[in-house]
Amino acid sequence: MKHTFSVAAALAATFSVTALAAAPKCGGGTQCPSDSPCCSQYGQCGVGAYCLGGCDPQNSFDLASCVAAPVCKSADFKMDSLDGIIPNTQYLGDASKGNWVSSGTPAVYNDQAVLLTMAPSTVGTLLSSTHYVWYGKISATITTSQGAGVVTAFIMMSDVKDEIDFEFVGTDLTTAQSNYYFQGITDYTNTKNLTVSDTRQNSHTYTIDWKPDSITWLIDGNEMRTQLKSETWNATTGSYHFPQSPSRIQMSLWPAGLQSNGEGTIEWAGGLVNWDSQYMTNGYYYASVTDVTVECYNPPSGFNKDFGDAAYYYQTTFGTNDTIAIGNNNTILSSFYATGDNPSYCPTGCSSASASGTAKTSATASTPTAVPTAETIPGVSGGGNAGNSGSTQAGDTSGNAESNPSAGNAGQSNGGSTAGGSTSFSQGIQNAGTTGGTSDATSVKAGSAIAVVGFLVAAMMM
Ligand SMILES: *[C@@H]1O[C@H](CO)[C@@H](O)[C@H](O)[C@H]1NC(C)=O
Ligand SMILES: *[C@@H]1O[C@H](CO)[C@@H](O)[C@H](O)[C@H]1NC(C)=O
Ligand SMILES: *[C@@H]1O[C@H](CO)[C@@H](O)[C@H](O)[C@H]1NC(C)=O
Ligand SMILES: *[C@@H]1O[C@H](CO)[C@@H](O)[C@H](O)[C@H]1NC(C)=O
Repeated sequence: MKHTFSVAAALAATFSVTALAAAPKCGGGTQCPSDSPCCSQYGQCGVGAYCLGGCDPQNSFDLASCVAAPVCKSADFKMDSLDGIIPNTQYLGDASKGNWVSSGTPAVYNDQAVLLTMAPSTVGTLLSSTHYVWYGKISATITTSQGAGVVTAFIMMSDVKDEIDFEFVGTDLTTAQSNYYFQGITDYTNTKNLTVSDTRQNSHTYTIDWKPDSITWLIDGNEMRTQLKSETWNATTGSYHFPQSPSRIQMSLWPAGLQSNGEGTIEWAGGLVNWDSQYMTNGYYYASVTDVTVECYNPPSGFNKDFGDAAYYYQTTFGTNDTIAIGNNNTILSSFYATGDNPSYCPTGCSSASASGTAKTSATASTPTAVPTAETIPGVSGGGNAGNSGSTQAGDTSGNAESNPSAGNAGQSNGGSTAGGSTSFSQGIQNAGTTGGTSDATSVKAGSAIAVVGFLVAAMMM
């Protein structure tokens, strides 16, 4: 049996495990209501972080509900500390404050790598770039995790669910699955297996070279597969089923093998996750990222919606290449209760948390009103916070973020319990977070000797 698989769909299923029943659902033409206007990548409506990266313009209340997307930034991101990684409980859209937004618990490993960790009763760790890419060459140097049901991924994902993937199933360490989707439409012919040497032991550089007319997947600089746009014409829909909208870079480690996921997903992932596995260290599964490079390409030839240089936005809900514009739009929210429709809304008072200079000033900002009950951070409700009421947790979290908006604290906070709803997570990683800012290069920040050995073997084989 051929199985179709999209990270977007499976992530949505995985995260919906932790979702509040109260959050309105959206997707497939069901749009969000005005009081929680933003449709998250997981298909639920909310405000705040729901309106930032991943916010689905096709199923949100209107085209202005999702905040415009910061434009591509060419850079070599060294992933050797938690600097520049901001928990999704703190990020309000200012891409100048950090290059990555995290959910879950990233950890620094010996000043050499960022670990994506996945402990029991969490849904793993996801890093998403704060800047989008609208065509470019993106490379990530990573090692994967291992084990049934455990999936490591390096992907490009747009807000309308165009997707370009490298996926690694933890039961097959010599295969990188390459994949692409147009607007989340699954098609099994889009998947191709690429052969690679042990993805856990060996650090490889995986590259997605995404051009307006082609996608090339490379491993360690070797071209493994090319997909031409011209070959993706769909006569039924009269459109190219080719990724063509601004996308975020995402690196993740997550449990596709959860009982609550579909049978097909579990089967694809090699079975259910064993939460007491020899492949766990310090109580968690992990994948490592050492480097990400981004070379942004110019907007496609023929592009004529160049109204600025700060952010991408959609002019219609079609989500196709010809409906995308670049403007000088504000990308920042004043609080976790604000939305793209009302970016300066701040019912609890924003004090020093000044957002962008271009956001409309709000005369009511200093007048506390009833705190809205809408969800504010996708994927945070439930999970490790399951003991709390989800909306209270979300409100508390955003309150902290507002009164303490400094992205400089991201490293410390990641070691604590605010990083992504993983309050049950403690082994080793808390040290990793709290010592991350020191210069003690010899300290073993992820904890045990086993981790060191594993990592050194991987490093030596590069
Ligand atoms: C971006 O700015 C343009 C021009 O001012 C505006 O028409 C559009 O609605 C804005 N979109 C978003 C998502 O902010
Ligand atoms: C790719 O490899 C996996 C095993 O890792 C296998 O289950 C799957 O069928 C293969 N897909 C294709 C398209 O060959
Ligand atoms: C064309 O698109 C439709 C609708 O998304 C889909 O069902 C169909 O399988 C596609 N056809 C081909 C040949 O890919
Ligand atoms: C959008 O895609 C079409 C079909 O490939 C192409 O002819 C057109 O130039 C593209 N426009 C932009 C702005 O990329």
